[in-house]
Amino acid sequence: MGERYDLVVRGGTVFTPSGLAATDLGVTGGKIAAFGDLGAAEAGETLDASGLTVLPGVIDSQVHFREPGLEHKEDIAHGTKAAVMGGVTTIFEMPNTSPLTLYQADLEDKLIRSQGRAWCDHAYFVGASEENVDELAMLERLPGCAGVKVFMGSSTGSLLVDKDAVLAQVLANGRRRVAVHAEDEDRLRERQHIAKQAGHPRAHPEWRDVECALRATKRIVKLGREAGRPVHVLHITSAEEMAFLAQHKDVATVETTLNHLTMAAPECYERLGAKAQMNPPVRDAGHRDALWRAIADGTVDVIGSDHAPHTLEEKQRDYPASPSGMPGVQTVLPLLLDHMHQGRLTLERLVDLTSAGPQRIFGIAGKGRIALGWDADLALVDLKAERTITDAWIASKCGWTPFDGMSVTGWPIATVVRGHVAMREDEVLATPIGAPARFWSTL
Ligand code: DOR
Repeated sequence: MGERYDLVVRGGTVFTPSGLAATDLGVTGGKIAAFGDLGAAEAGETLDASGLTVLPGVIDSQVHFREPGLEHKEDIAHGTKAAVMGGVTTIFEMPNTSPLTLYQADLEDKLIRSQGRAWCDHAYFVGASEENVDELAMLERLPGCAGVKVFMGSSTGSLLVDKDAVLAQVLANGRRRVAVHAEDEDRLRERQHIAKQAGHPRAHPEWRDVECALRATKRIVKLGREAGRPVHVLHITSAEEMAFLAQHKDVATVETTLNHLTMAAPECYERLGAKAQMNPPVRDAGHRDALWRAIADGTVDVIGSDHAPHTLEEKQRDYPASPSGMPGVQTVLPLLLDHMHQGRLTLERLVDLTSAGPQRIFGIAGKGRIALGWDADLALVDLKAERTITDAWIASKCGWTPFDGMSVTGWPIATVVRGHVAMREDEVLATPIGAPARFWSTL
């Protein structure tokens, strides 16, 4: 009698801890159980991976799924469906929903809403505010909590902690890495007239300028150091911030997004208008080049999508009343594979930025690598497939992508979440079995 596995992934080229290898993969109980030639093994289900590269599923540590309260833009069912369509197997969701995710009941509500509706694994950030600051150390240890998120500058929703004294209290209450949206609120207010006078999103990077981002980034790194608390600075957009953060890697980890790595001002605003509007803004090609250098030299730890859907109707409002943010969870992997095809990063770097990197900095238990005993979260990709990203392919409730019409080389062909095949050939399969991700700090 041969071995029996719940799932055998046959004939792929697998990104193993020892490098790419031609090997089958056996999965039992949702975990990687065997490498090697499993031709003789019995399989509950078989996934043919011939011609495909088997990567760790993408862990997207910054998405906004809008539920509860803003379900006309997105919800957990659609957002996670979009995730698995794009090879994403775990998401961390942000607290600027309505109500805000501030207390245990808000977090538990999101976890309950995810049961039987989430297509991928998930964890939810709790938002920091003056009113819940004393509870943060308790809240960040709750099951299904990704940690604490701070907005230093106003963005979508009302979450805001803009005073250093309150930020210091936030950092003193807890131990886990704090995720931060770093834009300086005072400077945003001082310069708001720029947006109003311009009346066009091309002014967005001028209103929310590099100095605005740099000031806040410097403040949070200083405060993190004083508090002895690691910080994760989200969606870094500028050469100046990257140069600063490279000097503070002991305390600060760094995220950048595909929007900032793929688009550039002013072209994106002329072509896409408010669809390209997000906070912090997409800047010019010089900054984009600096972000790629920071990918190459290791300053960047993770790539997140900052999936932040709004309806097309909302985006049509006159700037600056048009809301900031664009969808992205489904396009992370196609875009990154295409950037790799263009020679901008290696496969090793891609995998570290999208799985091992988030696992390492957030201390996720059992995810982020294809190794024995780890969760069988997989993205099977065709590195040579030439496809076009279209609005019609987008599973998000908002139904559009800023990358509509873009041709890419490299495409996710199947997504496996803890051994369940969740997507194959651009279609979701079976039922949503997403469960809360677990963390070393709260096991
Ligand atoms: O552009 C953005 N949109 N930036 C954020 O920080 C929030 C997000 C949203 O929720 O729409």
